[in-house]
Amino acid sequence: MKDNRVGVGIVGAGSIGIRGALNHLVLPDAQERVRIAAICDPVIGRAEAAAEKYGASAGYLTYEELLADDGVDVVTLCSPIGLHHDQGMAAIAAGKHVHFNKTMCTTLDEANDLIDAAQARGVKLVASPGVMAHPHAQRMRRAVLEERLGQLIWAMAGSSGVAAYHLNEKLRQGDDILSNIDPSWYYKRPGGGPLFDSTVYSMHYLTGIVGPAKAVTAMSGLAIPVREFRGRQIECEMDDNTFMLLDFGQAFYAVGFGTPHGVLQRGAEPYIYGTQGAILQAALGEQSLRRDDDVAPFVTPEHRALGESHVYSDLMQLVDWASGGPRPFGTAEHARHVIEIFDAAYRSSASGQTQTLQSTFEPVPLERLAALD
Ligand SMILES: NC(=O)c1ccc[n+]([C@@H]2O[C@H](COP(=O)([O-])OP(=O)(O)OC[C@H]3O[C@@H](n4cnc5c(N)ncnc54)[C@H](O)[C@@H]3O)[C@@H](O)[C@H]2O)c1
Repeated sequence: MKDNRVGVGIVGAGSIGIRGALNHLVLPDAQERVRIAAICDPVIGRAEAAAEKYGASAGYLTYEELLADDGVDVVTLCSPIGLHHDQGMAAIAAGKHVHFNKTMCTTLDEANDLIDAAQARGVKLVASPGVMAHPHAQRMRRAVLEERLGQLIWAMAGSSGVAAYHLNEKLRQGDDILSNIDPSWYYKRPGGGPLFDSTVYSMHYLTGIVGPAKAVTAMSGLAIPVREFRGRQIECEMDDNTFMLLDFGQAFYAVGFGTPHGVLQRGAEPYIYGTQGAILQAALGEQSLRRDDDVAPFVTPEHRALGESHVYSDLMQLVDWASGGPRPFGTAEHARHVIEIFDAAYRSSASGQTQTLQSTFEPVPLERLAALD
């Protein structure tokens, strides 16, 4: 039964479909805005089990059935990253608004396709991670714009160790259909590897704070070719060790990385060094840029306590936008630029040549940024 609420279709009832979408969407404040219209998953019994547990109107085995469901207004893609381009294109063709769990797709061409198709069809796209929705990220950008760091000199934005994290997620260790979720795709092509999965947060922060990059050079390879999951071997295909050098112009450079071991940077927030100051671990010198009451849009204490509330925030910003609200922070254009950086890094590694970037985006304007003091 349709009502005035926005109908959300959850595509993939795996780790983030459950932890980032369903666990949040059943809370009363979400239910005022949203109906859980349908869930789909190709693992037999998973969508039905999730639909029953979370009170969805329908559980389907195929994505085509979900797209054909008139009760679905918005889809949230919670499937493996390598599927996102084709699933996004199909949703757009069906006239549904689309929330992409990071990452939106894996190449610049795919990102261009999605943005062009959505514009032509008049549907809205939001791409996680919408990190610039966080007030501390906005203060970092304001500090840069107000030249509190002086002239920017270099920065670092990356992640390490996330491959092992996915092997050990709790929802993958059980025996029932909602807790035996196979993580193999995180190590396969296309869509696997730490850049699309994890460095994507740091790179959205960095480019969201300082603006778009101009060129990338990189070295990349597969360091650990076999992983073990619950006594079974996973043959890894995708690079797991990538180091990038980014050129932002005016001799301002950044190191980007996704690597299986070691710690270069604490947290996902980049380190940024200027002639007169630095931002490290979201602090400008001695001044923390975080506040106790900082929250992303739509995140109440109940949502925060559940974890993965940034995913819920991005999805609800799309729901709100589709209902006449403001444009969300997680724009498809920003995601496209970050995707091009990774796409270019892999091409640079393969060719030995620096890659000039083609895409750009409008960073969050000053008037939308949280105050510094
Ligand atoms: N796990 C995390 O910590 C986390 C956090 C934030 C975002 N994400 C993002 O969420 C997305 C999914 O990641 P995950 O960890 O939940 O993966 P997962 O492997 O836990 O779950 C993916 C689910 O998608 C299903 N699926 C496979 N093919 C499908 C298809 N054609 N149509 C619909 N469903 C299909 C699988 O059966 C599985 O149930 C990725 O984009 C990932 O980057 C994951």
